[in-house]
Amino acid sequence: MDGRNIVVVGGAGGLGAATAKLAASRGAAGVAVIDVDAEGVGAIVEELNELGCQAAGVVGSAVMAEPAHNLFGEAADRLGQVHAMVNCAGLYPRKPILEITDDEWTASFDVNVRCTHNMMAAAVEHMRDHKDGRIVNISSVDAFKPHPRNAHYAAMKAAVTSLTKSFALEFAPDQILINSVAPGGIATDKAKAAGWVPELAAATPLGRAAEPDDIAEMVIFLASSRNRYTTGENVIVGGGYVMH
Ligand SMILES: NC(=O)c1ccc[n+]([C@@H]2O[C@H](COP(=O)([O-])OP(=O)(O)OC[C@H]3O[C@@H](n4cnc5c(N)ncnc54)[C@H](O)[C@@H]3O)[C@@H](O)[C@H]2O)c1
Repeated sequence: MDGRNIVVVGGAGGLGAATAKLAASRGAAGVAVIDVDAEGVGAIVEELNELGCQAAGVVGSAVMAEPAHNLFGEAADRLGQVHAMVNCAGLYPRKPILEITDDEWTASFDVNVRCTHNMMAAAVEHMRDHKDGRIVNISSVDAFKPHPRNAHYAAMKAAVTSLTKSFALEFAPDQILINSVAPGGIATDKAKAAGWVPELAAATPLGRAAEPDDIAEMVIFLASSRNRYTTGENVIVGGGYVMH
C-alpha cells in the first residue's frame, strides 16, 4: 500500500477497522473511514494517526446514492487521489427463514447491496479519471453455502459477488480492478459478545474462527498495487468452511 490512499466504508469496527489499520501499517499514505458510527470513526481515526498515516473520518450512511457520492467526495477532498476502496458495511441479524419481515428484507438490501453499489459508483467515477483503481467488496461464505438462519443476508451477499463482476467487466478498460472477498466466521468483538465464536470454530475445518487480520491480509493484497491482474473474482477466505 506504499504511498497509496484508501477509503474503507464501514471501517469504524470489526473487519473494516482491521483493514484500515493493516493498510496504514503497510505504508498507506492516507486512510479515510466512512461509517454511520460517529464514535467509532473518532476512535479509529486516532488509532490511524498513531500508525503515522493521514487519517480522515467521514460520518454518514451510504444507503442513498446522493449522500454516498457526497461521502466519497469528502474523503477524496481530504486524501487527494483515491487508489483503493474497500466496502465493509454490512448487516447480518439472524432470523428463521419464514420469519423475515418486509422491513428486514429492506434493511438487508439497503446496507449489504445498495451501499456497495452506491460506493462503487462514486469510486469508479473518481478512479477512471486516473486510469487506476482497486475496489474490494466484502461478501460472505454464506453466499456459497446455505444458511437457513441467515437466508436474507446470504442472498444479499450472493448479490454482492454478482454486482462485483458486473462492475469489474464494465470498468476493466479503465484499469479499475474490482473483486470480492468472502470471509468465513470472524472473531470480531461483536461476534465474541454474541457468543458465536465457539459455533464458528466448530463449523470450520481449520478449527477456529478467523481473526480480523486473517481476512484483512487478502483484502489488502487485492486493494494494493501488488494486485496487477486479478479482477472480477471472488476469493473465499473461510478456513475450509465451504468444503463440507
Ligand atoms: N463477522 C463475520 O463473521 C463476517 C463473516 C463474513 C462476512 N462478514 C462481512 O464482513 C463485513 C464486516 O463485518 P463485521 O463483522 O466487521 O461487521 P461490523 O458490524 O463490526 O462492521 C460493519 C460496519 O458497517 C457500518 N455500517 C452499517 N451500516 C452502514 C451504512 N449505511 N453506511 C456506512 N456504514 C455502515 C457499521 O457502523 C459498522 O461499523 C460485513 O460486510 C459482513 O457482512 C462478516
